[in-house]
Amino acid sequence: TKRLNGRDLCSIADLSVQEMAAIMELAHAVKNHPEDFRHALDARQMVMFFEKASLRTRVTFEAAINTLGGNAIFVDQTQSPLGERESLADMARNLERWMAVMVLRTYSHDTITEMAAVSRIPVINALSDLEHPCQAIADFFTLEERFGSAQGLHFTYVGDGNNVCHSLMLTAAQLGTHCTIATPKGFAPKLDIIHKAIEIAEQTGGSITLTNDPIKAVTGADAVYTDVCTSMGFEHEATKRAPIFKPYQVNEALMSHAQPHAAFMHCLPAHRNAEVTDAVLDGPQSVVFDQAENRMHAQKAILLMLLGGAKRISNSRDR
Ligand code: CP
Ligand code: NVA
Repeated sequence: TKRLNGRDLCSIADLSVQEMAAIMELAHAVKNHPEDFRHALDARQMVMFFEKASLRTRVTFEAAINTLGGNAIFVDQTQSPLGERESLADMARNLERWMAVMVLRTYSHDTITEMAAVSRIPVINALSDLEHPCQAIADFFTLEERFGSAQGLHFTYVGDGNNVCHSLMLTAAQLGTHCTIATPKGFAPKLDIIHKAIEIAEQTGGSITLTNDPIKAVTGADAVYTDVCTSMGFEHEATKRAPIFKPYQVNEALMSHAQPHAAFMHCLPAHRNAEVTDAVLDGPQSVVFDQAENRMHAQKAILLMLLGGAKRISNSRDR
């Protein structure tokens, strides 16, 4: 945990297997004993720059830092990309004088890694075109709560091989999950992420399987996850994508191939009756609002780790 202090979270691949386990453990502690962490980040300042819309990520990051004793400053960046008014480096040289941490939601993943490279304070990826690490950590925390552990679980993602899919694959690998991804042809996850995930899974006893067959992928699954087929920034492809993704819709017929205890998962917002039917989204297997709740607890753990608030508190609990 000490090693995470001061680091960035641009990608799940920034974390070692041990660091992922430590974040998960802290997320459970924070959720079960929020009062222990009430002042862990007293007066620490967090700035957020969002180039895209957000409900969950914005509200849970603000609630997280506020209930740890710190404060959030939100900068609406939807009208102009970061780096347009002044360079990322010049922004960083200002921000690091006032702020403890920076949270960025961008179109280009490079904006996040470039900011991380020039900034002395931790940079957290709150969604880019490549990854959504905070989402995946909250989602696997949700699975740990539900199933006790993610190790050995059969986790299936159906749909677009997008940012959410990338972070889920890497997290699944780190936690030793058997992860199956079913995408239409031409919408597979990025090759270098697949390779990274396979490499990690080889160390943890997990596995990564890719297919174009949604029924095969869902058969026997403990959890079935989907996301929109058209992500933010790809709206111009929506009409082209809709028919391609139709066979990948998560409906009751597809869910019937999963284990009877299987959880249905979605990062939200959902396009209702497109990638998932109302019956599944609102049905008894759906854990989508647990996932949404857990965004806050998981991000508290992330902030505590990166800002060095975790150690202080665990010491005070030991006394
Ligand atoms: N799941 C998620 O990141 O939601 P928002 O886009 O509302 O933040
Ligand atoms: N893949 C979606 C996730 C939204 C939370 C997007 O990038 O728009």
